[in-house]
Amino acid sequence: MTILAIESSCDETSAAVIRDGDILSNFIANQTVHEQYGGVVPELASRAHMQNIVPVVHAALQKAAVQAGEYVNDASVNTMLQSVNAVAFTQAPGLIGSLLVGAQFAKSLALALNVPLIGVHHMQAHVLANLIEDPRPEFPFLCLTVSGGHTQIVLCESPLSLKVIGETMDDAAGEAFDKSAKLLGLPYPGGPLIDKYAKTGDPNRFKFPEPQMPALNFSFSGLKTAILYFLQEHTAANPKFVEENLADICASIQHRIVSILLNKVKAAARTTGIDQICIAGGVSANSGLRQAFTEMGQKYKWQTFIPAFQYCTDNAAMIAITAYYKFLENDFADLGTGPTARAEF
Ligand code: KG4
Ligand code: ZN
Repeated sequence: MTILAIESSCDETSAAVIRDGDILSNFIANQTVHEQYGGVVPELASRAHMQNIVPVVHAALQKAAVQAGEYVNDASVNTMLQSVNAVAFTQAPGLIGSLLVGAQFAKSLALALNVPLIGVHHMQAHVLANLIEDPRPEFPFLCLTVSGGHTQIVLCESPLSLKVIGETMDDAAGEAFDKSAKLLGLPYPGGPLIDKYAKTGDPNRFKFPEPQMPALNFSFSGLKTAILYFLQEHTAANPKFVEENLADICASIQHRIVSILLNKVKAAARTTGIDQICIAGGVSANSGLRQAFTEMGQKYKWQTFIPAFQYCTDNAAMIAITAYYKFLENDFADLGTGPTARAEF
């Protein structure tokens, strides 16, 4: 059973092919046009998706043919396309213009190939990225999903039975990274840059506050304000403060974001009694989080799981694995279905 999956929720155009549960290809085109604007410009993202979608899908089919040992010449791309049993796409949440490009393309292709269509929830897919490769968690497991728009603790009872048991009340963890980076004068998206500079810094040099949020919920807006005041105060005394202390500032900010996240994971493990724990989403690419999470797992005797880097940030392989489980359940979408910018799962 072969599924072609398309992801276009934000600023990455991606396509993947999955056959019998194994990923054959995962092609991702990053949009660099947004860097100069300090954030994703929705209209430019939609336009870039329209330019990228055909070559990205072609590349994913070609790579899949090579991976399956079926590539002979360019006609093999069409042979791979003809073998597709369903077309999947990211249905929600995301930027509506971006989602529409992937949705329309997927629907047209499903119609042309006369195969079913599968709509996938982007945040559910981030969680299920943990099922792409071994070692895979056993059910039930917990997942901390940390991306640019979401911060959630999810209880997973089966691939399609997921429950959000904690989430952010304001900013997402990725936003906390990106907004902190912006205050430091770093370009968008700043998360990976904070990670990079933090590597040579002292995480205990500066102390930022940890919010006291009830239950398993998070808050990051107070941290952003605290960093703003901290920087204003120090640069008033020394205009070169950021320049001279960049590594220590980044390490201290990262240390606090990671401790806010992991303290709630610890609480979730305690309250649910579950010891199979995953992380997912763009921020799970953060080296400080990956290391602290692994160490915490060793300390508390959890089994911890982290997707490979290419499956942490937005990608179509996670849409493909989710679609695979939906296909097994005959969970198909109607051709009249449209994408939505917001949706619960
Ligand atoms: O999951 P994702 O690719 O897209 C969304 O669904 O939002 O997550 C993007 C977020 C951005 O905020 C980006 O700065 C952050 O993930 N991110 C990182 C790292 N790599 C990506 N944050 C911290 N450290 C990283 N290495
Ligand atoms: Zn995402």
